[in-house]
Amino acid sequence: MSNRGTFGSKLAIVLATAGSAVGLGNIWRFPFMTGQNGGAAFILIYFACVFLLGIPGMVNEFLVGRHAQTNAARAYGQIGGRGWRVIGYLGILTSTIILGFYAVVAGWCLQYLFASIAGQLDGDPTYVVTYFKTFSSDPVKPCLWGVGFVLITHVVVSQGVEKGIERASKLLMPLLLVLLLILVVASCMLPGAVKGVEFLLKPDFSKVSSKVFLEALGQAFFSLSLGTACLCTYASYFKRDTNLLKSATQIALLDSFIAILAGLMIFPAAFSVGVQPDSGPSLIFITLPNVFREAFSAMPVVGYVISILFYALLVFAALTSTISMHEIGTVFFHEELKLTRHRAAWILTVICSVIAVFCSLSVGAYSNLQLFGMSLLDFCDFLTAQLMLPTGAFLTSILMGWVANRQLVKDEFTNGGTLRETFFRTWLFSVRYIVPLCIVLIFLHQFGIL
Ligand code: PHE
Repeated sequence: MSNRGTFGSKLAIVLATAGSAVGLGNIWRFPFMTGQNGGAAFILIYFACVFLLGIPGMVNEFLVGRHAQTNAARAYGQIGGRGWRVIGYLGILTSTIILGFYAVVAGWCLQYLFASIAGQLDGDPTYVVTYFKTFSSDPVKPCLWGVGFVLITHVVVSQGVEKGIERASKLLMPLLLVLLLILVVASCMLPGAVKGVEFLLKPDFSKVSSKVFLEALGQAFFSLSLGTACLCTYASYFKRDTNLLKSATQIALLDSFIAILAGLMIFPAAFSVGVQPDSGPSLIFITLPNVFREAFSAMPVVGYVISILFYALLVFAALTSTISMHEIGTVFFHEELKLTRHRAAWILTVICSVIAVFCSLSVGAYSNLQLFGMSLLDFCDFLTAQLMLPTGAFLTSILMGWVANRQLVKDEFTNGGTLRETFFRTWLFSVRYIVPLCIVLIFLHQFGIL
């Protein structure tokens, strides 16, 4: 496959892949999960999942993608034989579903960005609750924002790897970090903010129930974009001399750092105005507007600017992630059906828009759109993060640890012997035993078998 494009530099590789990793998973999902699951105790389990299982899993997908330099399904087939293409198909399906529900939340962020610019989020606490309920239960508006977000993503992805993805990541990622730092400083300077910092640093193990492990695992994989074939697809644009272990470690560290910063932005502000941290997915749409207003009541202009910056931050973070989810399917249809990139991108855009509309309606106008007692949106989140992602990562570990040609894997890991072998054995041990075993144990534990 010639002429597929590659990322132009090592920095571009890290920024684009970190762009995929850093998203609503860090700024929306991580804080509400942490809030619901006991703060620091959850974070400790989460870190264990990132470093013990996440980094070896990321290297797995990088190896497959960079070796094959083609779309995910074909790449897995090249490493393990035709049957293993199934991991690629599973990944493409997973990322398509994720894009569908993710776009709904990203669409809310867009709406809130405009609402904060127009000063519409200013009102007493009941007003903010009503605002969210009225907006999210409208049958048309949130659907349009969600579909709009898929379309914005479509425009970037259609531009291709260097002009679209790389350029967007180089612009948005540094901006995101700056915005985040400004917000962390503002939040930590509020009176009583210390309690929020304590919540993030002092573990309370009494809140750790058996479901916390699977939730932490799902959150770690979701946040690292692991198990969706996303990393495999991006790695197909890596240069041959990229040090894969080093890149995976850098990205995991950056992703975790940003999740912690998001916690430091949200919890000190929430505690400072006496808001409970466990308000769930609506934390950033109901709790935070109130926090901004109350915390900066003496300086309403600062509150106004902070609110705009916050929702802009969410939109940027979401966009660099939706780009990566869209790219997985786009390049698959582009290469397998021999369509132009634009046409291939349209297939994804249409499918994801339909999922987005149904998910959006399920948490609003048509709340009877439920599966297993959950709204369609929550169900898609649970299905992908807690079942499909761990399954994808598990199968990839089996493939790389037990099935793939050992010499080929070693050559790819060490870039043809030019990198030291020191970490190869540790990594191999981890993907043969630790990763699959831990995933199975966590599954068994969740379903009460263990
Ligand atoms: N990692 C992204 C986030 O944290 C979500 C994502 C999942 C992106 C799967 C790509 C694939 O928001």
